[in-house]
Amino acid sequence: MCGIVGMVGQNQVAALLVDALKRLEYRGYDSAGIATISDGQLGRRRAEGKLVNLETRLKAEPLAGTVGIGHTRWATHGAPTERNAHPHFCNGVAVVHNGIIENFAPLRAELIAKGAEFHSQTDTEVVAQLLAAYRAEGLAPREAMQAMLSRVEGAYALAVLFEDQPEMILGARSGPPLAVGHGKGEMFLGSDAIALAPFTDKITYLDDGDWAVITPHSLEIYDQSGAPAERQSQITQGATYVVDKGNHRHFMEKEIHEQSEVISHTLSNYIDFAEGRVRLDSAQLDFTNLDRLAMSACGTAYYAGLIGKCWFERFARLPVEIDVASEFRYREMPLPGRMAALFISQSGETADTLASLRYCRDNKLAIGAVVNVRESTIAREADAVFPTLAGPEIGVASTKAFTCQLSVLAALAMVAGRQRGELPEAEERAMVQALIEAPRLFNEVIRKIEPQIEALSRDLARFKDVLYLGRGTSFAMALEGALKLKEISYIHAEAYAAGELKHGPIALIDENMPVIVIAPHDRHFEKTMSNMQEVAARGGQIVLITDEAGAAAAPLETMATIVLPVVNEIVTPILHALPVQLIAYHTAVFMGTDVDQPRNLAKSVTVE
Ligand code: F6R
Repeated sequence: MCGIVGMVGQNQVAALLVDALKRLEYRGYDSAGIATISDGQLGRRRAEGKLVNLETRLKAEPLAGTVGIGHTRWATHGAPTERNAHPHFCNGVAVVHNGIIENFAPLRAELIAKGAEFHSQTDTEVVAQLLAAYRAEGLAPREAMQAMLSRVEGAYALAVLFEDQPEMILGARSGPPLAVGHGKGEMFLGSDAIALAPFTDKITYLDDGDWAVITPHSLEIYDQSGAPAERQSQITQGATYVVDKGNHRHFMEKEIHEQSEVISHTLSNYIDFAEGRVRLDSAQLDFTNLDRLAMSACGTAYYAGLIGKCWFERFARLPVEIDVASEFRYREMPLPGRMAALFISQSGETADTLASLRYCRDNKLAIGAVVNVRESTIAREADAVFPTLAGPEIGVASTKAFTCQLSVLAALAMVAGRQRGELPEAEERAMVQALIEAPRLFNEVIRKIEPQIEALSRDLARFKDVLYLGRGTSFAMALEGALKLKEISYIHAEAYAAGELKHGPIALIDENMPVIVIAPHDRHFEKTMSNMQEVAARGGQIVLITDEAGAAAAPLETMATIVLPVVNEIVTPILHALPVQLIAYHTAVFMGTDVDQPRNLAKSVTVE
């Protein structure tokens, strides 16, 4: 989490740094700061809270300089105060950092014993202190950098300024990504290419363990051992993305409405529209002879994986082992027989997902990755990349990336079914046809249900707790609904497999507990209806999300019934994501929360 940038060239950098940080604010927004060197002196401005506060500070107290670094923070060590905001200074050294220095406590104690004075509670400050200490011992900047890197443990992307080197920025990465941007007579550093998009599309990504020295006209890269290293530069697509809200109030609203387009774009990668079948050449993983597939991801991406599991098992008869990545990575799961692994991540940088990937790679499994950011670490470390073409997702709550993940997983499950001889051609064709029609349906459905959901959300906003129920893929959708609602509206929400209700959670049901039941008219419908009756009998207020067949067969009066078209079961979860997202969005808007940047969260989770 946290976003870092650096710039060195001929132009005044303060405003440009802030501009780049705006494109990184999705990574954290607890505080922000920049540092520059002007007339041989380091200067900095920092502010608590969002970037606008830093902008206001800079208007009142401008900062000159043609070299600078900047940071937007998601707090790990130390409260989100100005004192803990980056850049951290120590005797002519300035540092910004994304990640966690795991051994900061012993390093801090050692430095204090030698007389160092710390000014923040952060782990980052040990980096500045160590660098300053090495410089004071007479080490040159490069030597000091290498000495410091040999002492710190953990995950970091760093950018460093030395006051006596006004034409140089040093960067380093171990874990979180770091990109170097090439300009004409100027060079850039950034947590991702999107941050640098207004300045350049020519990017060199540092490999894990690399560190670099950039000046206006040069880039030197060194590997972990300190040996000079060559890394290929590439032209990225970052520059073509427009990061604005268009006519929408929030990025989340825009991203919900964009889904028709981005799902269609994503599907075009996996479906032969003329043939009406999935494209086998899109499967760079061979599922034919696998005994099992391991899957892992975090949060919303994990829920996409749960739905994917149902599909792989049903359409390809391929057993799937799935777990959240923070558990998967430490389970020491035996991986016997013929297995492959599939990881799902919007950002492609989630630390736990990456660690799980590396565990499977160390165990010699073929690795596939469903990712949205093509240049991400997870994409680069996978054997086979299955891109979601959702474009940059800026709202912290994942929406369009989720439905694109589902679209890719649907296609892969069909590929696996075909390869393993488990999916009859007619069934595949019917599913492909349904997927082709899904984007159009998205537009129709959104127009139809959004006004109803807006009105319903006003009612939901009165409650303190909400329960979501579902079975099969709708259970995963219930989990996603509860996550979405709690993360942006701060209303407590839980999801249960509908059949689990009577094993405990039913005790919670009364007239103060709205229960959102997700029940398309599928093979689970009757069972879920029985569970819904149990809720109604205890005074629970029901919101039913179903399809036209389900609405006709539903036995009860509800607080609201949201009706979607009847679709092939492979499209059902993709379409049912819409009401789930809209309920969360409109409830949060009604409650007046910060929809795109909810409290305590960040978009890219590069720490454990
Ligand atoms: C919730 C949300 C998160 C992410 C999770 C994984 O709306 O966005 O739960 O899904 O942090 O992130 P990625 O997909 O980047 O690995």
